Amino acid sequence: MHVLIINGSPRVKKYSNTDKILGKFTAGMKENGTSFEQYEVSDRKQWDAMRKAFTENSDILIALPLYVECIPGLLMEFLETVSPKTDGSRISFILQSGFAEGIQLRCGEEYLKILAKKLGCIYKGTLVKGDNFGIRFIEGAQREKITDPYTQMGRVYAAEGGFDSEECRRFTGPEIFPAPVRLMVGLMFKTFAKKSFKKVAAAWGCTEALDYRPYE
Ligand SMILES: Cc1cc2nc3c(=O)[nH]c(=O)nc-3n(C[C@H](O)[C@H](O)[C@H](O)COP(=O)(O)O)c2cc1C
Repeated sequence: MHVLIINGSPRVKKYSNTDKILGKFTAGMKENGTSFEQYEVSDRKQWDAMRKAFTENSDILIALPLYVECIPGLLMEFLETVSPKTDGSRISFILQSGFAEGIQLRCGEEYLKILAKKLGCIYKGTLVKGDNFGIRFIEGAQREKITDPYTQMGRVYAAEGGFDSEECRRFTGPEIFPAPVRLMVGLMFKTFAKKSFKKVAAAWGCTEALDYRPYE
């Protein structure tokens, strides 16, 4: 199998969490001889080649982050420029996000089923996974802990040509955290996480408070 992979994040490749996820995913996918070509929606210079690859390939995988509970606008802008397929092509998605609970990605997942039809493709499932916000901020073993599990998902995809298995469904993790965990996460965001965000912002050259509202 040869797979066309599109990274649907508007973030440049270097900073894209989706790209780090795909790095691990494709390592697993390649083990059985599956080959792939990868493009980035963030790089408009690739759009012509991407459009051509979309026409020519029959196995398509779009990996995308959830942005404001939705599909990134830049990815939609690109997809509006492709012609729907008529050759029985198959399409799968990796839908990943920052917040960890599976339930908050379900609306996006439902839309991807509609999108597959609009693109004229057979829908082969969506790998749904949150808790990826930190990938960009951490390195080494900490990053691997989050990204390594995608290697096994790459193996499953290469073997089954999609994400329609129980193993892929379980990969999402909890739909909703139990109440004590929700309380703990809330507290963490008000304390430790707030401090960390401030540190990261300062390191990026941010000089104003994170809740600064210049247009108010
Ligand atoms: C503008 C913006 C909006 C986002 N909206 C959501 C969201 O609604 N839900 C969520 O869980 N994560 C959200 N995130 C977090 C991203 O989905 C997450 O960090 C993802 O791993 C980013 O992947 P990327 O670096 O490839 O773009 C948002 C991030 C940004 C920058």
